[in-house]
Amino acid sequence: MKSLAVIGSQWGDEGKGKIVDVITRQASWVVRFQGGNNAGHTVVVDGKTIKLNLLPSGVLREGCRVAVGAGVVLDGMALMREIDSVRASGISVTPQRLVVDGRVPLVLPYHREIDRVREEARGGNKIGTTLRGIGPAYEERASRVGLRLCDLRDGEVAQTVLKERLKEVSAYLAGCFGSTVSLSLEEHLEEVARLQESVLPFMGDVSFEISRAISSGERVVFEGAQGCLLDVAFGTVPFVTSSHTSAGGISVGVGVGPRSVDRILGLAKAYTTRVGSGPFPTELLDAQGDELRQRGAEYGTVTGRPRRCGWLDIVALRYAIRVSGIDCLALTKLDVLSGLETIRIATAYRTPDGRELEDLPLWDRQSSLWTPVYRELPGWQEDISGVRSFADLPHQAQQYVEAVASLAGCPVVLVGVGQSRDATLWVPGTPKEFYEFVGTESRC
Ligand code: IMP
Repeated sequence: MKSLAVIGSQWGDEGKGKIVDVITRQASWVVRFQGGNNAGHTVVVDGKTIKLNLLPSGVLREGCRVAVGAGVVLDGMALMREIDSVRASGISVTPQRLVVDGRVPLVLPYHREIDRVREEARGGNKIGTTLRGIGPAYEERASRVGLRLCDLRDGEVAQTVLKERLKEVSAYLAGCFGSTVSLSLEEHLEEVARLQESVLPFMGDVSFEISRAISSGERVVFEGAQGCLLDVAFGTVPFVTSSHTSAGGISVGVGVGPRSVDRILGLAKAYTTRVGSGPFPTELLDAQGDELRQRGAEYGTVTGRPRRCGWLDIVALRYAIRVSGIDCLALTKLDVLSGLETIRIATAYRTPDGRELEDLPLWDRQSSLWTPVYRELPGWQEDISGVRSFADLPHQAQQYVEAVASLAGCPVVLVGVGQSRDATLWVPGTPKEFYEFVGTESRC
């Protein structure tokens, strides 16, 4: 195994950043292929908390190069702020280490303005976007308008495109929403000038670099952002993000063939969370949900919004496993479930006409009427955050992990019990190729 994808299999925030960090000890490259700075990855290294939005988590591993593929939408100013902040933690980010594909669409202030005005206009039907301008930037790409990073090489092209876009967007916002905000060409040009200076030095051809790395047998990790149920086609539309968060996004988001990914590791929290609006059958709207939020510190990394919390949803997980072709799972934040008398897992949904769905047909507006069918498992009382070997977990915790694997029909290879790198346990029976990829015997 030379390439591994790490894919969210819920509604995001499954702890991808930490798992990517854990498995990249020997990786040559970590590549982002979709999303933008709507993503928030928190990684704790040597007691220091580092928050990443656009930079792949491999940036924390010296010797690992990182790439931002063409499928990402890039807020260049946000990238520069992030680079400054990780540099302040002593991490080197140079054009030798970071390559940003010249094809990435740029997210500029006017995209954020469209996002904001539209969300405001939706009133009670908000999607609950991160207001980072992600959707409008992807729309422009599909419409074949807007600026890509490579356009900044020619100041005149950038100016012409911007002038046209601002005219069109202003008319749209004023005409459709009565917006009176003026989008200043000068401000946008100023930003473009700053990006020319600061971001262009990182520009390269990620498709070329990663294809070459793969054919030379280097280890490559593809780092997903958000989760399968937020996929623009396969998620809970319209309450989704605007990119392909499932594994299918890798090929078109990097510019490598679909066979370039050897194994796909799906990430799932031991329970479920969701930020923003949309269906969430296992959501707990009671004190139990509040307790999970408190224990799991479930507040958005990007927006600080409280995350909605609920039980693990196997139906949704099975769906994600199918859509992304997930080979094995990492179950994160198991420690958050400590202290519960019993733990529930949804194994099916019941429809209003009494049918039981074990397999998700597709999410539509009827989905909010489904109610989960639960299986109850015994909990454990011990604090497991200090456990460093799967065998030392309480029997009930082991049983929970085994139940998830068996119900999901997919092996669990890693279990997270805390924030630090070493709070990640290998599950006995994990294929040797994973240990070899990570370069470890039994510990992360
Ligand atoms: P957008 O990506 O900002 O357009 O937001 C669309 C939906 O995706 C909203 O429900 C967001 O809360 C959700 N979303 C976007 N990024 C993330 C993420 O990194 N984690 C969890 N939810 C996200």
